[in-house]
Amino acid sequence: MDIRIVESYDEMSDLAAALVIDQVKNKPGSVLGLACGASPIGLYKRLVEAGKRGEVDFSRVKTVNADEYIGVPSESPDSYHGFMRKYLFDALGIKPENTLIPDGMAVDILSECARYSRTIKEWGGIDLMVLGIGTNAHIGFNEPGDAFVPETHVVELSEMTRNANCHFFANPKDMPHWAISMGIREIMFARGLILLASGAAKTVALGKMAGDITPQAPASILQLHRHVIIIADKAAAARLEQE
Ligand code: GLP
Repeated sequence: MDIRIVESYDEMSDLAAALVIDQVKNKPGSVLGLACGASPIGLYKRLVEAGKRGEVDFSRVKTVNADEYIGVPSESPDSYHGFMRKYLFDALGIKPENTLIPDGMAVDILSECARYSRTIKEWGGIDLMVLGIGTNAHIGFNEPGDAFVPETHVVELSEMTRNANCHFFANPKDMPHWAISMGIREIMFARGLILLASGAAKTVALGKMAGDITPQAPASILQLHRHVIIIADKAAAARLEQE
């Protein structure tokens, strides 16, 4: 694993932005895998600024998100659709047809999962995927469990994950119990991965990521990826050296 330890959230975001911008400059039609949550907001801000300055052209980029809540309409600001519009898509003018986020309101959720997996393949897979990490070492919404789930699937969210994410909701009580998540194989098939972690709340999770490879710590599978860069600030990285 290529682990880069930086001083701060801003430095983490700067480095991640430089890597994503390089990717798009080298391949303007890149398929970018994206995550929601606090970790990538600084990165998205920098991508928007670079796009507006004309430093990089995102018009041919396609995006694939890792996950979405079930039961939250895509029009809602609480949804991951809403998050992506707010922090990236609207400001960069990324066309809806070039974005892929699971439909958490689909009548047939299992067909929606299958459609999602199929579309990722039809788009030729992901060139570079940005991930955060949950406090229990989940990636996307692949929660700790008895097995790694390969394809896009339905997930029951753990209490830990619900508590960590409910503050994003206008009314935290609306935090869903269920989500759709890209599977571990789909994440591992990305040609490059960047995982962002900032703050002391991620120290244990990063320790697990670098420990035994087990579905009980889904991020640990990243140790088997040949092109993964972990960008962590000092607080988050505190246990990495021990591992
Ligand atoms: C959620 C998302 C993940 C994200 C994680 C960490 O569970 N589904 O994709 O990586 O939260 O979020 P944050 O960056 O807010 O700590």
